[in-house]
Amino acid sequence: MFDYQDYQVYFAKCGYGLEEILARELTSLGAEDTQQNYFGVRFKADAAALYRANYKSRLASHILAPLINFDCHSDNYLYTTAMDIQWENIIRPGMTFAIQSHVTDSRITHSQYAALKLKDAIVDRLRTVHGERPNIDRKNPDVWLDLNIRENKAIISLDTSKGALHRRGYRRQSVEAPLQETLASAILTLGEWDMKQPLVDPMCGSGTFLSEALLMAQNAPSPAERFQGRAPFKFMPDWDEDIWEEVRNDTDSQMKQVPHRLITGSDINRKAVSAATTNLGWLSGSQSVRIKVADFRDLDGFKDSLIVVNPPFGDRLGERRDALKLYNEFGSFLKHKCQGSTALVLCGHPELRHALGLRPKRKKIVRNGGIECQLVQLEMY
Ligand SMILES: C[S@@+](CC[C@H](N)C(=O)[O-])C[C@H]1O[C@@H](n2cnc3c(N)ncnc32)[C@H](O)[C@@H]1O
Repeated sequence: MFDYQDYQVYFAKCGYGLEEILARELTSLGAEDTQQNYFGVRFKADAAALYRANYKSRLASHILAPLINFDCHSDNYLYTTAMDIQWENIIRPGMTFAIQSHVTDSRITHSQYAALKLKDAIVDRLRTVHGERPNIDRKNPDVWLDLNIRENKAIISLDTSKGALHRRGYRRQSVEAPLQETLASAILTLGEWDMKQPLVDPMCGSGTFLSEALLMAQNAPSPAERFQGRAPFKFMPDWDEDIWEEVRNDTDSQMKQVPHRLITGSDINRKAVSAATTNLGWLSGSQSVRIKVADFRDLDGFKDSLIVVNPPFGDRLGERRDALKLYNEFGSFLKHKCQGSTALVLCGHPELRHALGLRPKRKKIVRNGGIECQLVQLEMY
């Protein structure tokens, strides 16, 4: 029988500062006893809530099922402890596996080395029990494992999502510095978009805000390919197909039609508009979204709308001055042409926020691809 610890307790990972909204989202999907933690949320769930969270969460990047946690001061102890886990109940003959690992502030300093030790323990145990060694498949394994060692405390978990949930499957074309899908969704959640107010991104790039807004307004599950035809968590020892079918049918039946032009976007760059059009094209109902080529300075403006935007940060040498000018012009556009609207602007540096020339109602630190950014909310009343 399966006897690993905390089987009903899960840990959903998320970006820095998004723990509170993730806890709320998980609760709405049936999770119980949520506890905000470092870069994630611990919660309790039955199988239905776990499957639903994987299928529908827009904010979680992975949902882990912790197998064991222990004090870990040496690679040898990691190996012997991992050897005691009944891997034969999880990785059955013929199955492949992969390990993602993260090590911070610990005696073991290299995450790849820690992953290697865990792999050795699994392979050695399974060779003894099954008489054959399992294979590693880093791209599409049957079982994804997660090893996290922080301040000499190790947690080994099953990744029930089998890879990053932010990979929704629609990003077929990209632009420079696209926004991570989970962060785009988090920004829409932080902005409390009611899905009735017109939403616009006048520097839409590859259309991440537009795509996430469409999914949100449709009340749609994740469009990720991982869900097409099969569930990622099918490898789990207590997998229940009937519960999954019920969760999926119920979730799919709650999808809504989105009014025409509720969501619109534009970009000065023709290639970006083409990428956004291609990406949205992978989502059902994308005909309702209008995207065009335009410099925001030539637009008439937006009244009573939610404007979400991630202008270029100007990180490369010589580009900062242009970025400051652009933020300044955008601030002026908001002030003079967008009365009655709210804007959520992602700023890569404090100077960019100041360049907007508007006093924010709210500010929040978020991280996009490792860069610390300020998200500001501006009210044009
Ligand atoms: C950081 S990218 C946006 C990325 C986007 N959020 C995504 O996820 O793909 C900034 C975008 O602003 C656009 N842009 C820069 N200046 C502009 C202007 N004056 N009017 C409209 N778009 C502009 C660029 O072409 C670029 O696509």
